[in-house]
Amino acid sequence: MTIKKVGVIGCGLMGHGIAQVAAVSGHDVVALEADTGALEKGLGRIRRSLDKLVEKEKIAKDAADAAFGRIKGTGDTADLADCDLVVEAIVENIDIKKKLFAELGKTCKPETIFASNTSSFSVGVMGDASGRPERMVGLHFFNPVQLMKLVEVVRTENTAEDVFAEAKAFGEACGKVPVAAKDTPGFVVNRLLVPYLAEAIRMVERGDATPADVDAGMTLGCAHPMGPFTLLDYVGLDTTLFIMQGWRRDYPNEPLFEVPALLEQKVREGKLGRKTGEGFFKWDGDKRA
Ligand SMILES: NC(=O)c1ccc[n+]([C@@H]2O[C@H](COP(=O)([O-])OP(=O)(O)OC[C@H]3O[C@@H](n4cnc5c(N)ncnc54)[C@H](O)[C@@H]3O)[C@@H](O)[C@H]2O)c1
Repeated sequence: MTIKKVGVIGCGLMGHGIAQVAAVSGHDVVALEADTGALEKGLGRIRRSLDKLVEKEKIAKDAADAAFGRIKGTGDTADLADCDLVVEAIVENIDIKKKLFAELGKTCKPETIFASNTSSFSVGVMGDASGRPERMVGLHFFNPVQLMKLVEVVRTENTAEDVFAEAKAFGEACGKVPVAAKDTPGFVVNRLLVPYLAEAIRMVERGDATPADVDAGMTLGCAHPMGPFTLLDYVGLDTTLFIMQGWRRDYPNEPLFEVPALLEQKVREGKLGRKTGEGFFKWDGDKRA
């Protein structure tokens, strides 16, 4: 089977990007949202992103219009029934995701491949909920999807070989570089990144260095495009805390997953990063204040 028709569930930050790259690469896309307001917002985001790419001459206007025309919005799960692949990008809540995959298992044709864009949950648990664990993979795109070149393709212990190969080929068709990962906490990137961010916070907690000096160290000493505290402020401290708390609950003996007290404190104080104007740094929109 070659994947031609793709369902994307959730048209938020990640879902609108996934729908866009799938449509630009020639797939027919059905974008499902929880309500019409959210759907209109998501489709508007895609239109603006395509217009920006036209402005920058990254894509021809005709191609952008054709891609947008390939995306059909819906509020009805039944419209996903004949999709070859369905990618879920809804809120990071395992009970809601399990309920959705159970419904998809009953709605979609038997060949449909199911994928989740989850950052922190077990893909296998969602495959079990769908009733067809052998057709479940993780497709973990990175934010912003339109720009970031990586997609982690996550294989559970039940994922069929041809399903994994199809998912990987879809990632490549979308212009991404796929890396294969097992269904472990954080897959490849977040498993390394999150403990690194946590250790940076612990360094500041101990008074070893300031956030500004740690960031300067990692940008100038390791040529990272941004330091860990700027990155934390971009990602959102609440998001990082949420991921760490979930891992801590599931793996209480893994010292790398220990949640730094300073992270909990910042979130308690509502200092969530760029989106609230303050995290480890103060922000004026996209710029450090
Ligand atoms: N934000 C990131 O940087 C990032 C990166 C990689 C992966 N992820 C993962 O991607 C997923 C989505 O994250 P996001 O940042 O795009 O979230 P988001 O809140 O921006 O978007 C989620 C969208 O899903 C919709 N939604 C919620 N429940 C739904 C349902 N039952 N049916 C249809 N639509 C529903 C919401 O209306 C919302 O528009 C999460 O699993 C997250 O862990 C996020």
